[in-house]
Amino acid sequence: MKILRDAAAVRTAVAGAGRVGLVPTMGAFHEGHLSLIRAARAACDVVVVWLFVNPTQFNESSDLVNYPRDEERDAALAAESGADILFAPTVEAVYPAGFATTVTVAGLGDILEGAHRPGHFTGVATVVAKMLNMVGPQVAFFGAKDAQQVAVVRRMVADLDIPTRIEVLPIVREPDGLAMSSRNVRLGADERRRATALHRGLVAAGYAASTGQRDAATLARVVEGVLDGEALSAEYVAVVDPDTFEPLTTVDRPALIALAARVGSVRLIDNMEVAP
Ligand code: PAJ
Repeated sequence: MKILRDAAAVRTAVAGAGRVGLVPTMGAFHEGHLSLIRAARAACDVVVVWLFVNPTQFNESSDLVNYPRDEERDAALAAESGADILFAPTVEAVYPAGFATTVTVAGLGDILEGAHRPGHFTGVATVVAKMLNMVGPQVAFFGAKDAQQVAVVRRMVADLDIPTRIEVLPIVREPDGLAMSSRNVRLGADERRRATALHRGLVAAGYAASTGQRDAATLARVVEGVLDGEALSAEYVAVVDPDTFEPLTTVDRPALIALAARVGSVRLIDNMEVAP
C-alpha cells in the first residue's frame, strides 16, 4: 500500500488501473471503516482510502482537538483490509491559501444534524466534492451510520453531475449494540454502559412499529423513554423518510429513526430503519 499526500500522485497511481473505489474517512479506524474498505476491495480494481480530519466540518473546536489520530495504526489496518492507496493529504493541500469555494446542500443540510451542528454539512459536502474531483472514483463507499450524510452526499452528487456511484453499507455495532464510532474511545466506563441506550431505544421503537404502532411521535417517545432510563436526553429523535429526510407523522411505509444524544461530553448519533 502506498501512502500519498497530493492529488497529482493519486491520479498518476490510479490512471488506467480500472475501476477505482474510494473510501472517505477521518481515520481512527474501527470495524465500521474496515467494512467499507473490504467492500471496496471486493468490488473494485483499485482501492483508495481517504484519511483527512476535515477541520471545516467540526463545529466545536474541542471536538476537533480531541479527535483521535494515529496514522501509523490506520495505515496498517487499511493495508490489511485491502487498500492500495492511503491518500492522507495535509490541511494545506486540501485548503490552500485563498481557498474560497464551498458546497452547500440547502434544506437537507440544515435540518437535524445540520441544525445542531451549524456548518457541518457544508464542510462535509465541500470536502467530499473535493475528494471526488481529486480521485475520480467510479464508486465511493459510505456507512449507514451517518445516514443524513449519505442523503446530503447523494443530493450533491446528483445536483453537480459527479459521475461517482454512492454505495452504502450497514452500521457495524459492538456486541452490546452500540454503533462503532471513533468517538466511543472518549466514553468513560459508566458512560460506555449508558450509551447502549441509543441502540436499545431504536430497537424498542422498531419493535413498537412492527407490532402496529404507526404514530411517529409515539415512536419517538419510545426512544426517549429508554434514553431517559439512563438519564440521557436526546438532541433530537426524528422519524423521517429514509431518502429525503422529510419528517413523517405516520409510519405507513419504511421509515428511518435518527437520533443524537450527548453521553457526558461525547455526542453520539445512531439510526435504524423501521417498518410497519
Ligand atoms: P468518518 O466519521 O471517519 O466515517 C467514515 C465512514 O465510515 C463514513 O461513511 C461513516 O458513515 C462510516 N462509519 C462510521 N462508523 C460506522 C459504523 N459503525 N458502521 C458502518 N460505517 C461506519 O464520515 C466521515 O468520516 C466524514 O464526514 C467524511 C465523509 C470522511 C468527510 O470528511
